[in-house]
Amino acid sequence: MPSGRYIFFVLFFLLLRVLCRLLCHSSMTHTALGNAAMLNAPKHIDYYAKFSPSPLSMKQFLDFGSTNACEKTSFAFLRQELPVRLSNSLKEINLLPDQLIMTQSVQLVHSWFVQSLMDILEFQDKSPNDPKVLAGFVDTLVTIRNRHNDVVPTMAQGVIEYRDAFGADPLTSQNIQYFLDRFYMNRISMRMLINQHTLIFDGSTKPGHPSSIGCIDSCCDVTNVISDAYECAKMLCEQYYLGSPELELREINAKNKSQPIEISYVPSHLYHMVFELFKNAMRATIENHETSSTLPPIKVMVALGGEDLSIKISDRGGGVPFRKIDRLFSYMYSTAPRPTIVRHFPQAGFGYGLPTSRLYARYFQGDLQLYPMEGYGTDAVIQLKALSTDSVEKLPVFNQTALRHYKFNQEADDWCVPSKEPLNLAAYKAAK
Ligand SMILES: Nc1ncnc2c1ncn2[C@@H]1O[C@H](COP(=O)(O)OP(=O)(O)OP(=O)(O)O)[C@@H](O)[C@H]1O
Ligand SMILES: *[C@@H]1O[C@H](CO)[C@@H](O)[C@H](O)[C@H]1NC(C)=O
Ligand SMILES: *[C@@H]1O[C@H](CO)[C@@H](O)[C@H](O)[C@H]1NC(C)=O
Ligand SMILES: [Mg+2]
Repeated sequence: MPSGRYIFFVLFFLLLRVLCRLLCHSSMTHTALGNAAMLNAPKHIDYYAKFSPSPLSMKQFLDFGSTNACEKTSFAFLRQELPVRLSNSLKEINLLPDQLIMTQSVQLVHSWFVQSLMDILEFQDKSPNDPKVLAGFVDTLVTIRNRHNDVVPTMAQGVIEYRDAFGADPLTSQNIQYFLDRFYMNRISMRMLINQHTLIFDGSTKPGHPSSIGCIDSCCDVTNVISDAYECAKMLCEQYYLGSPELELREINAKNKSQPIEISYVPSHLYHMVFELFKNAMRATIENHETSSTLPPIKVMVALGGEDLSIKISDRGGGVPFRKIDRLFSYMYSTAPRPTIVRHFPQAGFGYGLPTSRLYARYFQGDLQLYPMEGYGTDAVIQLKALSTDSVEKLPVFNQTALRHYKFNQEADDWCVPSKEPLNLAAYKAAK
């Protein structure tokens, strides 16, 4: 009998612990987000996801920050626009494979998005005429920006977990590629909106560059940014490989031969793109010339025309087979654990250098492409819009068209598959 009683006590004790766990857990999530807010979140997401995001042009960004900058207008725009962009992304997360959504990483990212949405909705009924409200809004935006700092590596972690557990079939890879391009693009856009508002209206007087408005420089000196990015990549390269290829930079301003090349752009975006391309070009050049005593230089050509600004970065790093180009831009394949990890730059990330740089280029209607010549080298070309009226945000919208893309993107092929066997012409002879 005593042993029976003992078992009873043990069971009772275990039950208590389980109950306690459950209670503590639920009270924790509820205090974090507020009970009512938690319950209402899906309703708000549904509401705001029905709106399409409103893309801004570079010119509109500049006007927001010009002399007659109006904080109230910016506040009123953002408290509507940020929930719309957040909700469009939140809706699209639901179309990922269930096992990917259920990973801890994706759940975490999802909770950040919901929390940020609720934070902004606090301001829906507040008056733009109250300076305290405006100041509180700036603080909230800064909190949101910090909360979302690690979205990219956290999502990447989720993708790795998913791929390790379930493999990478072509349909899923294609969907994840489609999703992440849109998701990260939306993230770039939200950070842009937040940066502009917080930089312009944080109350401090700006001793900064007279031509810069928030993080946009209306006279961004393109060759300057390229040289800076080269110097930084060169420093890393020399630390790691004890050598680096030289830079040969040429520029042509077709509009006015005597003027430097200047466009309205976000210098940090441009820097990001060329820095990534330089890192890749340097690594390829060095690894392709291990046995020779001299390194061929990296040649950069910058051209400004009537509507385009083009940057071509040419290396002689041996290129890659053309067949593999898509894979270099893939999130799913590039996160594959690589045996060459030792040969990497120390700060080498998830292999996201190319895909994220391409997003920055596309964000203002530009593009980034690689043209390899296998056995010789690679040309990486960035195309940007030269006119601020053409530089309009490129934003994903979540609607039926996007939904269809997830459901039916694996269309039957309508091109012949070449046969591996030689055609048996005897059959045709016999018919003659
Ligand atoms: N100029 C180039 N010449 C030859 N191969 C290149 C070149 N640029 C990129 N690649 C190939 O494309 C791959 C993907 O490049 P990407 O910049 O996206 O990722 P990574 O350089 O491997 O890692 P990360 O940029 O995140 O540090 C590289 O690993 C390399 O094999
Ligand atoms: C080129 O720039 C110079 C110096 O700013 C200016 O005097 C000249 O008018 C410009 N030419 C054209 C065609 O815009
Ligand atoms: C989805 O949005 C895009 C861009 O606004 C639009 O061109 C497209 O027609 C929309 N699709 C549907 C089904 O509403
Ligand atoms: Mg890289």
